[in-house]
Amino acid sequence: MKKRIGVLLSGRGSNFEALAESVAAERIPNAEIAIVVSNRDGAPGIQRAESRGIRTRVIPSKGLERETYDRQVVAVLNEHKVDLICLAGYMRLLSPFFVAAFPNRILNIHPSLLPSFPGLESQRQALEYGVRFAGCTVHFVDENLDAGPIVLQAVVPVLDEDTEASLSEKILKEEHRIYSQALNIVLEGKFKIEGRRVIRTN
Ligand code: GAR
Repeated sequence: MKKRIGVLLSGRGSNFEALAESVAAERIPNAEIAIVVSNRDGAPGIQRAESRGIRTRVIPSKGLERETYDRQVVAVLNEHKVDLICLAGYMRLLSPFFVAAFPNRILNIHPSLLPSFPGLESQRQALEYGVRFAGCTVHFVDENLDAGPIVLQAVVPVLDEDTEASLSEKILKEEHRIYSQALNIVLEGKFKIEGRRVIRTN
């Protein structure tokens, strides 16, 4: 049976597209994207999913209390019998209710080397801080912001001539690469979590 992936996004959807491409090319074998959910009406990522013939659902979050909203999303994910969830530019913190519904089955991609620069505009934070290396992180999701055990990271050097745009572009390329790789590790189940550490097993 194919593993069923649910993707949650709020915007552009390039990470979703990279995952969808890996699934289509069977670089992520025995998996399918069962549903793409957005909390924002008109998110370009939803159009991308539709043009790939993938089921989508827009559930507007505006004005709703966090758990009330999350209950609706969890119901849709369960309706589509989702095994694993990938947050792909989903700009909302998950409630404890949501996290408990899918223990160690939610992944996120973040454009920094966590625990540095969580939250918004991480690439700008990295440039302003003056770090020489930036990057991205795929991690399991808990109820804290950009926290949870780390599956994979990739490093990108920061050059003197880098701008927020050029750094973001370099990081995004690595995001697209490691998200598929991390998803494979998790779907294969060849890992154990010890404290904060995700240890590969065979
Ligand atoms: C990506 O850079 C992703 O890492 C970031 O939002 C962007 C979404 O781009 N996510 C976060 O900052 C989560 N804290 P995309 O819609 O093209 O995938």
